[in-house]
Amino acid sequence: MKSITLLGALLVFIPNAMSQSSLIVAHRGYSHVAPENSLTAFEAAIAVGAPYFELDVQKSADGTPIVIHDETLERTASSNAIGLIQSLSDEELQTVRIGYPERFGRAFENEPLPTLSDALQLAQGRIRVCVEIKVAGIESAIVADIQKWKMDEDVVIFSFLPEVLTQIHSIAPHLKLLFLKSDATSDDLNHCLDIGAAAIGVGGKTKLDEAFINEAAAMDLEVWRWTVDDVAEMRHLQNLGVHAIITNRPDLGMTFSIE
Ligand code: G3P
Ligand code: CA
Repeated sequence: MKSITLLGALLVFIPNAMSQSSLIVAHRGYSHVAPENSLTAFEAAIAVGAPYFELDVQKSADGTPIVIHDETLERTASSNAIGLIQSLSDEELQTVRIGYPERFGRAFENEPLPTLSDALQLAQGRIRVCVEIKVAGIESAIVADIQKWKMDEDVVIFSFLPEVLTQIHSIAPHLKLLFLKSDATSDDLNHCLDIGAAAIGVGGKTKLDEAFINEAAAMDLEVWRWTVDDVAEMRHLQNLGVHAIITNRPDLGMTFSIE
């Protein structure tokens, strides 16, 4: 009787014990505790032990890669800064503060707006970085920043824009690429191969099941999933074999992930 109980217990625990840990990616840094895409949110991602943080890149009027999600300043600016990032010079952007007052009040009101170079300098040797490129036309500048900080092995380039990934691949074929799609299908897996991506990043509209994971694995493609802040869902995705989980709550993810 005792051995049957023990066998039952083993059968319950073996699947979890055998499943590979999903990597945890802090979405826009540890954006639950500090303004998204800020240097403080990136430091917080390091402090919580996440192996990666993700950031978004827009382009200034001078062609500099700037770390911010939206095309405009309004949503996250602490001051009354307004305007399109691509119409503002680097000098103008240096004065902008991104404390995201609607979410954090005045707690982070002096948070600077980082360039990609600032963020990579902070990350170098401490954490890997997922660089999501939001606009075309800054591919060479982004590769230059990555090479300046010798982060080639420590970045993954994300984009919803296949032409951006193709361009990065032609400039720097050694960089790891991930194609983003909110409602990915088998066709998108084929598309990843066409553009030289090693991974697909899928959103919540994707039918993400064992068949999809197996199909991707047969094509040697990793599946990453954004944005998941629920522990039960994280566990489900890990058991399914999802390579990485992108989350605003890396603290929750780190409770069951090893890396
Ligand atoms: O990591 C992918 C995810 O960040 C894409 O969506 O809107 O948060 O940039 P968004
Ligand atoms: Ca993003």
